[in-house]
Amino acid sequence: MLTKEQNDLLTQTGPGTPGGKLFRQYWLPVALVEQVPQGGAPVPLRILGEDLVLFRGEDGQLGLMGRLCPHRCTDLSYGRIEDGGLRCLYHGWLFDRTGKCIEQPAEPANSTYKDEVKHPAYPVVEKAGVVFSYMGEGAPPDFPEYEFLEIDASHRSIYKIHLECNYLQACEGDFDPSHVSYLHRRMTDAPTANAVPGGEAGRDSGSYFKANIRPKLSFEKTDYGVRIFSEREMDGGKKYLRVTNFLLPSLACIAGRQAGDGYSAVWRIPIDDTHHWRFGFQFQRSAPVDRKYYDEQNKTEIGPGYMPIRTQANRYLQDRESMKTSTFTGMGTLFMVHDAFAAETQGPIQDRSRENLGAGDVIIAGVRRLLRQAIDDVAHGKLPPNVTRGAADKTYPNLIIVNAVVDASVENADYVRGLVGKDRFNAQSAAE
Ligand code: FES
Ligand SMILES: [Fe+2]
Repeated sequence: MLTKEQNDLLTQTGPGTPGGKLFRQYWLPVALVEQVPQGGAPVPLRILGEDLVLFRGEDGQLGLMGRLCPHRCTDLSYGRIEDGGLRCLYHGWLFDRTGKCIEQPAEPANSTYKDEVKHPAYPVVEKAGVVFSYMGEGAPPDFPEYEFLEIDASHRSIYKIHLECNYLQACEGDFDPSHVSYLHRRMTDAPTANAVPGGEAGRDSGSYFKANIRPKLSFEKTDYGVRIFSEREMDGGKKYLRVTNFLLPSLACIAGRQAGDGYSAVWRIPIDDTHHWRFGFQFQRSAPVDRKYYDEQNKTEIGPGYMPIRTQANRYLQDRESMKTSTFTGMGTLFMVHDAFAAETQGPIQDRSRENLGAGDVIIAGVRRLLRQAIDDVAHGKLPPNVTRGAADKTYPNLIIVNAVVDASVENADYVRGLVGKDRFNAQSAAE
């Protein structure tokens, strides 16, 4: 449970707020590259409560700047891309991609007024099909070289989807190991091809989640956030071990259907305090991803404008008949939908003064403490976790994701340390 003040601190990310200052320490995904093709229209964006326009100039370079023209505030996202920048439709002021005003047609020819006009603009980087921006002050930090961003495009699937709630309550679902035994449960025990490394043939993670609904939970701090252990005791002296990671400010790396050969990354970016984007990355190392599978999945659940097909307004198209034989929720098989239902129905901003946390929420409470500490760090001029400038290595050799059945006697932290710097994501190779 949190007080209203504590809840505000963690959920507000607008300009000037302590939480907003934390988010503005990081490179953040703000759009997909496919939204800004050469010759395409400028894209209106809202990120961290700021109205912005993203555009690709005639030179192919991207610019991200304040959406309202600093002259008399007309929307620049309707503007013309010409003459080396973005031109406002109202009186023709022209801005380059750094936000510098380079023409003011109605001013005297020798006027220097344009040099005095300040317009906010932020640096952008295109990586892995995603546009990232640093919306903070001063020089940007090191760009994070996560493996899911660095790997060849054929080994990766990306998506983006809108959620109608505060980012934090959805993040809390991403690193909540106990909900998976229920929310994502399948109502059939049919054998599956998505085997768990070290596990029995025909059993996938869902089968292990169902077999033990009371995971033992623990976590340890890392330089980027927290490493979360959930272990489920199994018969025959075994346990099902999962290691999930939360990275500041709002990224979760979770074992997905890749079963030890890659993982799923879910990055939640506040639009404002009551809406956010979910950016998703799924990759596997050993072979290109099954593109058809991911395309189909995304087409089924993501509509035009990256809006979800299933929403509160249509009650997530819940099919109660299918709850008997198909899924626990009756909302289809995609975890992303179940997670959206769980988070959005908590309200635009979950009122954490009304909740009742239990032993199964120990991770939730731990991450909230971490976020509060990070906000405090920034307020005191310190670098929060996962921000570096001039680091020699930004490749995260200690970011270990595990999904494996191992001997019950295995010590979790040792197991993870055995994987550091080796085959980081393939738990099976460590088990051998
Ligand atoms: S409002 Fe943009 S040029 Fe006047
Ligand atoms: Fe979930």
